[in-house]
Amino acid sequence: MSKKVLVLPGDYIGPEIMAEAVKVLEAVNRRFDLGIELEHGLLGGAAIDAHGVPLPDATLALAREADAILLGAVGGPKWDNVERHLRPEKGLLAIRSELQLFGNLRPAILYPQLADASSLKPELVAGLDILIVRELTGGIYFGEPRGIRTLENGEREGYNTYKYNESEIRRIGHLAFELARKRDKRVCSVDKSNVLEATILWREVMEEVGKDYPDVELSHIYVDNAAMQLVMRPKQFDVMVTGNMFGDILSDAAAMLTGSIGMLPSASLDQNGRGMYEPCHGSAPDIAGEGKANPLATILSVAMMLRYTLGSAEAAEVIERAVSDVLDQGLRTPDIYSEGTRQVTTVEMGEAVLAAVQA
Ligand code: IPM
Ligand code: MG
Repeated sequence: MSKKVLVLPGDYIGPEIMAEAVKVLEAVNRRFDLGIELEHGLLGGAAIDAHGVPLPDATLALAREADAILLGAVGGPKWDNVERHLRPEKGLLAIRSELQLFGNLRPAILYPQLADASSLKPELVAGLDILIVRELTGGIYFGEPRGIRTLENGEREGYNTYKYNESEIRRIGHLAFELARKRDKRVCSVDKSNVLEATILWREVMEEVGKDYPDVELSHIYVDNAAMQLVMRPKQFDVMVTGNMFGDILSDAAAMLTGSIGMLPSASLDQNGRGMYEPCHGSAPDIAGEGKANPLATILSVAMMLRYTLGSAEAAEVIERAVSDVLDQGLRTPDIYSEGTRQVTTVEMGEAVLAAVQA
């Protein structure tokens, strides 16, 4: 049976990294006879330029039909001055919401070959393997009412609404516990229940969900302490589960513990395991078009897609091993370069992974 993958390259470095990831995807598709068909669409700034909106109807229709979506990165200064509701990021948020991709998996894994690239001491991060499970379609990102209004005294006021209902908390909780079962069986739920009611409920519901998983240890931590612990003793964590905004912030910090956000893939899953896969990093306007972007996060996103949505763990492993091989060969894009290694371009890195996949 054929499976459809929608490719959305996005903006700035997006198309550069996507070209390399697609080469790798096509190679495993042939090698394992996966029957994957690729389709292409526009999202973000590229869609604004072509159609005036960040998520065109045509893209959304293709996305609904697809088994999985592979996304590059969206946004950048070119669209800084478009109206708020038309910004490239709105396209990303809308596709997450429209497809109910509530479960965002952001692994932070330190490749032993890159231990030097971390800003923390090697012994603090050696062997690091954290999985952040971020709720992606609720919380303050989507809560209504929201806006900027003018008060009676003429002063302007910005406001947003932070809310979570029980079913939203429960479904992300179950996902986190299920994932923990396949790992070290520890879930740490991050909240701010000393201040925010929405997260008092979050903590209560996590406790309830935890009762279904007596084999998994549940702990709770306030988000400020979580930020501190992440940079102090990051290896204490296995799975961290949290809301949309805290997850946004903590996942960037966790990513940087590994030395390069350019190495980290992510998955955003719906209730049925369909998903959108993208690198954790952004569109890096400053290096676009220079061949400096690291394609490995996008290539590793292809591996996640094969494992979580397309049911081919075998092909996923081949890609992951290929990435490890090219690191062993000493190849490095500038973001992960260190003395004694060989600096390569985006395309050279992609070609090297391709060769390793085909070997
Ligand atoms: C992310 C990004 C997005 C977010 C932006 C681009 C809207 O930072 O995926 O982490 O805040 O979710
Ligand atoms: Mg972010």
